[in-house]
Amino acid sequence: MFLFLIFVAISTYYIYHWTFWKRRGVPGPWGIPILGKSGAMLDDRSAPPLLIQEWTKKYGKVYGFTEGMQKVMVISDPDMVQEVFVKQYDNFFGRKVNPIQGDPDKDKDVPLVGAQGFRWKRLRTISAPAFTNNSIKKVMPRIENSVQEFMKHLELNGENGKPVNMHLYFQEYTMDVIMRIAMGQPESKMFNNPMLYDCKGFFENSRWPVWMFSGAFPFAVKGLRYLFLKLGKFGAGPFIRVQKEVTDAVNERIAQREADRQQEMEPGEPQDFIDFFLDAQSDVDFFGETNNEYQKSTIYNNRKLTMQEIITNCFLFVVAGFDTTAISLSYVAYFLSLNPRVQRKLQEEVDRECPDSEITFEQLSKLKYMENTIKEALRVFPMAAFANSRRCMRTTKLGDTVVEEGVDILVDTWTLHHDKKVWGEDADEFKPERWESLLNSHQSFMSFGAGPRVCLGMRLAYLEQKLLLAHVLRKYSFVANTQTQVPMKLVGRATSRPQSLILSVEPRN
Ligand code: HEM
Repeated sequence: MFLFLIFVAISTYYIYHWTFWKRRGVPGPWGIPILGKSGAMLDDRSAPPLLIQEWTKKYGKVYGFTEGMQKVMVISDPDMVQEVFVKQYDNFFGRKVNPIQGDPDKDKDVPLVGAQGFRWKRLRTISAPAFTNNSIKKVMPRIENSVQEFMKHLELNGENGKPVNMHLYFQEYTMDVIMRIAMGQPESKMFNNPMLYDCKGFFENSRWPVWMFSGAFPFAVKGLRYLFLKLGKFGAGPFIRVQKEVTDAVNERIAQREADRQQEMEPGEPQDFIDFFLDAQSDVDFFGETNNEYQKSTIYNNRKLTMQEIITNCFLFVVAGFDTTAISLSYVAYFLSLNPRVQRKLQEEVDRECPDSEITFEQLSKLKYMENTIKEALRVFPMAAFANSRRCMRTTKLGDTVVEEGVDILVDTWTLHHDKKVWGEDADEFKPERWESLLNSHQSFMSFGAGPRVCLGMRLAYLEQKLLLAHVLRKYSFVANTQTQVPMKLVGRATSRPQSLILSVEPRN
């Protein structure tokens, strides 16, 4: 009898949570009790943001579903998105995180991307100077050097239009760049960097059972995290190895700095993100920094990081910086191979603006058509769509819709970017020219997010892509061949990457 009562109590509890949206009259896909739709949302073999787009067609511009205990509201109306990301930021300053990713308020090692409130403000204020134009200009010679390495490999292996795995090439390049500017890797390790395989493994998600379980049973998360992080269970291998690599690099730098200090050497300017963060190091623990009174306008001047925060944030920049930019380059190359007219126009722009062998920061800023081409590729394929989420921190209203504290808002970026009412009848076409006229107020471009939490690495991502594309397009054209997958199939959960991108790189005539 006792066991039966426990069973009834637990079932009632889960059914109560599972029917959250039903009880509020909000439509949406149900999924199954306890798990809701988490199975579909975690499936790495497809691209779940495309499923969200399908659901929007069925359920409309506002609908809800559950992922375990999490309640997710999907929106794709441009005005609502503006409300959440900009106008009502003070009510939506958290991001949707799975419990396994940690507690944004209580854990000691929350990365910028998952932090909220005062802690986010502190992490963002300290990290932002590393991404200004000035800072990026300083690291440009290292990026240029990685481009030269890339060109050597391309010349060697892609000779005479031999098909190459272009996505892998771009991954090698972006990994090389981020390791050099974030982690101080002294020289290029392109096509010889074991870290790449672990970082790739980090995105090729074999960890879905642990995410699903922790979404459904958040009270068991402490134990799960222990099994995951300390014992390396549930596919934690790549995560643990990358973290160890980053920890070793930070510790080595501390030892190096100490040795320099003992020899009375003056500390120079920060050379990479580790330096930036170590300069802001503190023994003080900010644990318990609460966010209850947080407002975006609040002045918060604390510019210190703990050791755990340094490691966690270096880790974040390595994985966020490498994967996204490589995917974006892949989309651009794919679209260029299918649109020879755009590619020719781009090559003419590069020939005109970048006539010397070395390409400068100023020349890159004149490549407007190239910037529009990158933007257009990211409009058609907004690959980091799941990053466009917010957590409701205070019950509020979006138009007539009540949003309760704790609900996660997910923007259906694919629908927003393909909305014919917003972008015109040709919304599904790849057309960089559309960026030549100013956006109207409804044209929300969300590939880098919006508002105070807009992507911090956006400038770096543009520069990295422009520099590589300018060098490649001066000499070569991307050409589709019989092995090129058309249309491209997208896979991946956190980011949507090409399942395959085989292209030929043919010398220009
Ligand atoms: C084409 C490349 C990239 C794309 C498409 C992209 C996309 C995004 C998106 C959609 C967000 C969420 C923004 C929001 O919530 O409003 C984001 C956040 C972020 N991105 Fe990127 N990203 C790219 C490259 C990078 C790079 C190179 C770095 C750093 C090395 C980076 C670091 C970050 C960080 C730290 C955040 C969190 C910002 C915050 O919460 O304050 N990203 N990115």
